[in-house]
Amino acid sequence: MTIPSNSAETSTSAAASRDVTAVVVVAAGSGERLGYGMPKAKVPLAGEAILTHALRGVAAAGIASQICVALPRGDVQLRELCDAFTAEIGAELGDMAPHVTFVDGGSTRSDSVRSALNALRDGTRYVLVHDAARALAPEAVFHRVAAALASGGKAVIPALPVVDTVKTVTRTEGEEASIAPELVTGTAPREQLRAVQTPQGFELSTLLQAHEAAAGFDDAQSAAVTDDAMLVEMLGVPVHAVRGASQSLKITTPLDLILAEGLLEGPLGMRFIEG
Ligand code: CTP
Ligand code: MG
Repeated sequence: MTIPSNSAETSTSAAASRDVTAVVVVAAGSGERLGYGMPKAKVPLAGEAILTHALRGVAAAGIASQICVALPRGDVQLRELCDAFTAEIGAELGDMAPHVTFVDGGSTRSDSVRSALNALRDGTRYVLVHDAARALAPEAVFHRVAAALASGGKAVIPALPVVDTVKTVTRTEGEEASIAPELVTGTAPREQLRAVQTPQGFELSTLLQAHEAAAGFDDAQSAAVTDDAMLVEMLGVPVHAVRGASQSLKITTPLDLILAEGLLEGPLGMRFIEG
């Protein structure tokens, strides 16, 4: 009997994981803060739509057999963009190309995630939820998240130490308001703080359970849900953190778009600057 080498074992288990892993890309937001008057996923970044960059990053990571994209309801151009991407990776990767599907997103990010989760193929065991707005997330981050899931994590998020000192504040009233609009109420211990990114990885059954629990939230509660891990934390399931990357910045404002353009045009080629 021959004993498989470690690398053969690793690639066999990576292939097995890929078969049962999906990536959900949420791209149904309106992009108000970017201010282009069009959904952010469509905004050009170095000549191509933000969504195209995001999808290429997911495909390059090679960790999933399915990509499900949540798009603004009825947006024909973004549907065409997904079709063009499907043709592109089909030509490049042949049988290894992930299966690309899309769904109509909802009015909140969580609604968009839920729509996409409901459209995943039977047999999906792991899902990574990724913001199209984090279009330059490097492959290494997808790999770190997928590896932690394969090691038994039910929820894994990429995170970075916070560089600013973070304080809590309250609005001032009465006389104090004539000095300044806010008053500091405390300083968070910075060494314990992390800025959280996507892709966030989950055991699918755990994330579905978390989203079911959130289905009855009122508008204020729904607005307070800013990532999927929060919902899983509310179930009491441990959420693990791996190292994120500064390239995974969320393109939110015009300044972020300038930074992303700068990364793409940088001398080293952006996806490989930082692992
Ligand atoms: N998103 C979504 N469905 C929504 C809202 C947001 O799929 N109803 C997605 C966005 O497309 C984005 C990610 O969630 O990829 C993070 O959201 P954000 O950066 O806030 O994007 P927008 O909501 O588009 O931007 P804004 O809040 O400035 O309008
Ligand atoms: Mg938003």
